[in-house]
Amino acid sequence: MITKAIFPVAGLGTRFLPATKAQPKEMLPVVDKPLIQYAVEEAYDAGIREMIFVTGRHKRPIEDHFDTAFELEYELEQAHKTELLKVVQSIKPDDMECVFVRQPKSLGLGHAVLCGERLVRGEPFAVLLADDLMVGETPVLRQMVEQFEEWRASILAVQEVPYEQTRRYGIVAGTQVNDRLLDVSSIVEKPAPELAPSRLGVAGRYILTPGIFDEIRSQPRGVGNEIQLTDGIASILRREKVFAFQYEGKRYDCGSKEGFLEANVELALKHPQVGGWFKRYLQDLTL
Ligand code: G1P
Repeated sequence: MITKAIFPVAGLGTRFLPATKAQPKEMLPVVDKPLIQYAVEEAYDAGIREMIFVTGRHKRPIEDHFDTAFELEYELEQAHKTELLKVVQSIKPDDMECVFVRQPKSLGLGHAVLCGERLVRGEPFAVLLADDLMVGETPVLRQMVEQFEEWRASILAVQEVPYEQTRRYGIVAGTQVNDRLLDVSSIVEKPAPELAPSRLGVAGRYILTPGIFDEIRSQPRGVGNEIQLTDGIASILRREKVFAFQYEGKRYDCGSKEGFLEANVELALKHPQVGGWFKRYLQDLTL
């Protein structure tokens, strides 16, 4: 059973300045919900109940978002706004625990994951990067947990990426096990297209075994002079099996303005409250 997830949320979000000057990028809303809430809901849906946030300075709004808002709830109750009250209360179901740990220095994704080590307590765990908003009929992390239950090994979410974009991703290569699964033999962080071992790029969802912590610890600084999770995975490959899983669903790269806009448009079109109106609005606009 996977019961714990790490959410590395310490990054500065400079690509979204000025919006992220005084608020975390993970709190940017897609339609009406912050990015981090989509990721937490995905983890909850996959059966995970312990959410570990690796935060940094200026990330207090994330803690507040998953905390009780007593005055707000009281006022909604008094005003008989029951639907809104439900929306607010469902952000953190009673059986979900949120734990916060600080990443004292921006030393990279590998280092952020390492900050969660003590809280993971030697169990396999998930890592979700909230920048990557994943939409699937079966939520993507749930698909991965199902794979983990079958293979009992680390599972990386991958998708095919354009040749010229390999520099944005960890890229994997290996032997095909079935339509969707690859037995990984190598992984490289952000290679140039001509050096990339394939076009399968890692999306921001991982299930990892606890052995990864020792591997990350022994890594020198990698790409961008940071301690890279990808390098830790490359190292654990010598001892353990790692699988790359081509999930069913769509990834929106909400770390980029283009991906963020796509997510807003597509999720607005599906939104029960504004979807119909938004479709007509777009049609009129593009006539
Ligand atoms: C991180 C990882 C990279 C992965 C990507 C997915 O990079 O280092 O291997 O492919 O997330 O979004 P970042 O986007 O944080 O630079």
